[in-house]
Amino acid sequence: GGTYPYAPGYYDDGDRPRIVTARFPHEDSYTLERYHATEGYEGLRKALDMTPAQVHDEVRGATVLGRGGAGFPAGVKWGLMPDGVYPRYLVVNGDESEPGTYKDRLLMERDPHQLIEGCLIAAYAVGLSQVFLYIRGEMPLAHERVATALNEAYAAGYIGKNILGTDFSVDIVLHWGAGAYVVGEETALIESLEGNRGEPRLKPPYFPAAIGLYGKPTIVNNVETISNLSWIMRNGAAEYVKIGTETSPGTRMVAVSGHVKRPGVFEIVNGTTTFRDIIYGEEFCGGIRGDRELKAFVPGGGSAPWFLPEQLDLPFESRPVGAAGSMLGSGAVMVMDETTDVPAASLTLVRFYAHESCGQCTPCREGATWLERILDRVVKGHGTRRDLDMLFEAGRTICPDPFPHAASERLGLEAQPFPFKMTTICFVGPSAYTAIHSALTLFPDEFEAKVAANGDGPAPIPVTVGT
Ligand code: NAI
Repeated sequence: GGTYPYAPGYYDDGDRPRIVTARFPHEDSYTLERYHATEGYEGLRKALDMTPAQVHDEVRGATVLGRGGAGFPAGVKWGLMPDGVYPRYLVVNGDESEPGTYKDRLLMERDPHQLIEGCLIAAYAVGLSQVFLYIRGEMPLAHERVATALNEAYAAGYIGKNILGTDFSVDIVLHWGAGAYVVGEETALIESLEGNRGEPRLKPPYFPAAIGLYGKPTIVNNVETISNLSWIMRNGAAEYVKIGTETSPGTRMVAVSGHVKRPGVFEIVNGTTTFRDIIYGEEFCGGIRGDRELKAFVPGGGSAPWFLPEQLDLPFESRPVGAAGSMLGSGAVMVMDETTDVPAASLTLVRFYAHESCGQCTPCREGATWLERILDRVVKGHGTRRDLDMLFEAGRTICPDPFPHAASERLGLEAQPFPFKMTTICFVGPSAYTAIHSALTLFPDEFEAKVAANGDGPAPIPVTVGT
C-alpha cells in the first residue's frame, strides 16, 4: 500500500513553529535512525527522571486541548481516572475519518516514533502498562510504518519490560480497524477493540475515563494530541504555552481541501491564525483556485456548521469559533468557491453520514436516510417546496435544536446554546442535519431554484397523536 488517489501534501514552507511536524521535511522521517538524530526518545528519558505526577503536571500545565475534535484538555482527562483502579488502559484513536480530515494519517506515516514516545510518556504519567493503538483500516501505509516503528522500539528497549533499565513496563498493541466512521467515536472504538460491533455507548453517565475498555478506566486520546507530548517533555510546558494563545496553546494540524490553489496539511499556530490566513495566505493555501470568489467554507470537518466569507477573519481558536456558531472539530477546512452547487455539496456530506450510520439509534438510521433521499430528489430536479420543509422536519427528529449558527442570527433565526438537543447517542445523525441546516439556511435560493418548476407538492398528511 502507500499511494492514495487524493494525497494532498504537507507544506513546510513559511516561518512558523513546528511541534509535531518538525521531522516531516526529512525523507526518512519515519525511521528510528532519523528519530535518534533529532532528539528522539529524549522526552521519554526526561519523563523517566521525573515522578509520574510531575509528568502529569507538566502536561496539565501545557493545556493540550484534545485534537480529535472536542478539545477536551488531555491533562484534565487523565486526572479523571479513579484512583487505585487497575488495570487501566490508554487507547490511541487513529481512526481518523471525519470528511476532509487527514492530519493523523500524516503523523502516523511520517513520524510514528513520535507517536510511540507520546504513548510511553502518557502511560508513565498515569500508571498504566497497556496501550492500544487503533489505526483506521484505509490507512495501510500508516499501519505499515507504525508496525515497523513498534518493532524497532521494542528491539531498542523503549517498549516492553523494564524500559531503559527502569521498573516501568508497557506493552503497545496495534489494532487495525475495518473502516467504519462511527468507530472514531471513542466508545464505539472501545466496543470494536473488545470484538463487538462498533456501536457507541451511552455517555454520560459513564465516560471511558471511569469505565472504558473491558470495563476498566481508559483514556482515549487522539494521535495528534499524543504526538505533542515528546516536545512538551523535552522543552517544558512553559515553552509550549508561549506558542499560541492562553486558551489554545501550541500548534494545530489543519487539513484544507476543496477549491484552493494548494490543498494540504499545515501546522498552524493555535489561536492567532485566521481562516483568511489559511485560505489566502501565501505560506498556506495561496487563495481560491482561478482567483474566483469564496462562497462558503466548513471550518472544522463535515460535522461543523458552515461559515460565510464574512467569518474569514475569525482566528482558528475554539472559543471565538464556538461563539460564532461553529466548531473547529478535527481541524479540517473545506473550501467552496462561487461555482459550487450548494445543494449538491450538502448532498455529498449527507450521503456520507447516512451511509456511515451504525443503525443503533432509529432517528439517525431512518432520519439520515430520509434526508439523503429527499435531498437527492431535490438535487436531481424532482423535488417540490414541500420537500424543503420536510428536510427541516426530518432533521429535527434527529436534532431538535440545531447547532447555534452565526448565520442563524443574521437571518433572524434563534441561535441555540451548545450542547444542542439530540435524539441519538452520538454525533453521526446530527452531523447529517448540520450539513443540510447550514446549506438551507445560508443559501435558501439555491434550493428554491431546484424545486421552483415543480410547485409546492402534496400538502402534509395530518398526524393525530394520542387518540
Ligand atoms: P465529548 O465532548 O463528549 O468528549 C470529549 C472527550 O472528553 C472524550 O474523551 C470524553 O470521554 C471526555 N469527557 C467529556 N466529558 C467528560 C466527563 N464529564 N468525564 C470524563 N470524561 C469526559 O465529544 P466526543 O463525542 O468524544 O467528540 C465529538 C467531536 O469529535 C466533535 O467535535 C467532532 O469534531 C469530532 N470528530 C472527529 C472525527 C475525526 O475523524 N477526528 C470524526 C468525527 C467527529
